[in-house]
Amino acid sequence: MSVYSKLGEFMERVPTGIEGLDDLIEGGFPRGRTILLSGGCGTGKTISSIQYLYKGIVEYDEPGVYVTIDERPELTRQDMLRFGWDLRTLEDQGKLRIVDLLRSKIGLPSEEKYQITTEIKDMDRLILEIMQMAREIGARRLVVDSLPALGIHMNDPTKIRDMILKLSFMLRKDKLTSIFVSEVPEQQFGAGPMHFSKFGVEEYVADAVILLHYLGTSDSEGGTKRTLYIRKMRATKHSEDIIPLYITGTGIRVENPEEAFKA
Ligand SMILES: Nc1ncnc2c1ncn2[C@@H]1O[C@H](COP(=O)(O)OP(=O)(O)OP(=O)(O)O)[C@@H](O)[C@H]1O
Ligand SMILES: [Mg+2]
Repeated sequence: MSVYSKLGEFMERVPTGIEGLDDLIEGGFPRGRTILLSGGCGTGKTISSIQYLYKGIVEYDEPGVYVTIDERPELTRQDMLRFGWDLRTLEDQGKLRIVDLLRSKIGLPSEEKYQITTEIKDMDRLILEIMQMAREIGARRLVVDSLPALGIHMNDPTKIRDMILKLSFMLRKDKLTSIFVSEVPEQQFGAGPMHFSKFGVEEYVADAVILLHYLGTSDSEGGTKRTLYIRKMRATKHSEDIIPLYITGTGIRVENPEEAFKA
């Protein structure tokens, strides 16, 4: 047995629930780690991170927490029904918790059953409150959508870095495998240096970086408009290709380039 496969056995994997993705990353995300999911607007960050939570619950019995700062929870619930994902039922079963930080950000009371009373400026308490919610449902997965919205009151990159480090540390301590959503401006592969996050520090703190891209135009043969690129994933031999990604009626699917060649 090679050293590599020996080590591989020790790293527990978390199936992502994104069709095709696990084959590109040795079976799933490394357990207890933090994954940065970055991309421009409308690239599928929210859909993929909710798919990770939804499939985590219904297929792998792993409860999850979705911390939303950018969108109203009732709209997210409605949007996800399009893919057949009934989030409300999972919430009622105590397997999913949607944490509304939007109202806290804009200073309005929330109509949500579970809300955070701490102001978004008080980051230390906020993190503790989120961790408490995760413990209450025995969560194994967590999503923060998005980091830039969470760090809206911080303009010092050192503070942002500290906040992400602290959050990652707490999540790892509780063995939660987490996705942090971040934003990057529209960019092209090969046209200057790539950006992987909003603040330029998140990619160094996260254990993995996945970049989603919207190409804008389809080719004459009806080729894909969307891609996924794994920039790094610690402890993982991962694909280094730019992978076609599709949003279908049942969620997000990525193509395994090797499979495509076989067809
Ligand atoms: N049912 C569907 N079928 C196919 N594509 C869809 C469907 N629903 C949404 N989309 C596509 O997904 C995009 C939205 O995806 P999502 O909300 O995950 O993006 P995002 O990266 O989170 O965007 P933002 O930066 O605005 O938060 C839409 O702009 C649309 O192109
Ligand atoms: Mg989004």
